[in-house]
Amino acid sequence: MIKIYAPASIGNIGVGFDILGAAIKPINGYFLGDLITIKLSQNFQLNNRGIFSNQLPINNQHNIVWKCWSKFCKKIKKNIPVSIILEKNLPIGSGLGSSACSIVATLVAINEIFNTPLNSKELLLLMGEVEGEISGGIHYDNVAPSYLGGIQLILEDYNIISQKIPHFKNWFWIIAWPGIKLSTAEARKILPNNYTRDICIKNSRYLASFIHASYTNQSNLAAKYMQEFIAEPYRSKLLPNFLKNKEKIKKLGAISCGISGSGPTIFAISENIKIAQKISLWLTKNYLQNDTGFVHICYIDTKGARKIG
Ligand code: HSE
Repeated sequence: MIKIYAPASIGNIGVGFDILGAAIKPINGYFLGDLITIKLSQNFQLNNRGIFSNQLPINNQHNIVWKCWSKFCKKIKKNIPVSIILEKNLPIGSGLGSSACSIVATLVAINEIFNTPLNSKELLLLMGEVEGEISGGIHYDNVAPSYLGGIQLILEDYNIISQKIPHFKNWFWIIAWPGIKLSTAEARKILPNNYTRDICIKNSRYLASFIHASYTNQSNLAAKYMQEFIAEPYRSKLLPNFLKNKEKIKKLGAISCGISGSGPTIFAISENIKIAQKISLWLTKNYLQNDTGFVHICYIDTKGARKIG
């Protein structure tokens, strides 16, 4: 029996739409991600547990886990039955890489129990393929960090899909999920097909400046360039009072604030734990729309998917 954990992630990190993503872990040690327990069996079985298992499809063949298993078997041209327990700890459509978590944990677990027929690049390609089918477009900025940890820059070259870039060890990432669902496929559909030359240049300038600041250890410069012109201007209306809240969070001392993935989760960054706690409290009081919502203060999760127990 093997148990695999895959952490939550922030896609886009306020800059680098579809090409930057960060794996996160709460500083209090809470497992913010999905867990898969797997063993070989007579036929395919799937049991769902966890706080958000009530959001999963009733028919297991519509579950991402089943999709991953059937795609994996097709890929290795062998049908190997397994029994799986999915512990769904992340809400679906939250902007925290919920589908990526299930995909990564499941594919890593299946690969392990089958004695690793796929190498990590083949596995990541398969993760991207499944994610693309679910969200309406292949994007690796959740699956790559959830699988490999850290902040990942998506190169998407056939030989190198993704590589880790340096991150600021003293940054606290505060995330707030308001308790409502937003479909990534829908949030991708509303984006324009074309952008002006000005926007393309600005976007390149901000991304390049952020990467430069990360490699030269200039934290304030990096935070300043965490701004996004491809998705945020169009998606901000999908989140409860996003622009007003962002302003308030910055006033509380955040050095950066943005939409996590396609939303509705908001993230904010501070280098100071006291400010991080203040922002966390404010978000709990003002951003959560019901009592399923949550706020966590996180670090970057440098490990990614891993065996537990
Ligand atoms: N880059 C993706 C998007 C992330 O913004 O659509 C989704 O979590």
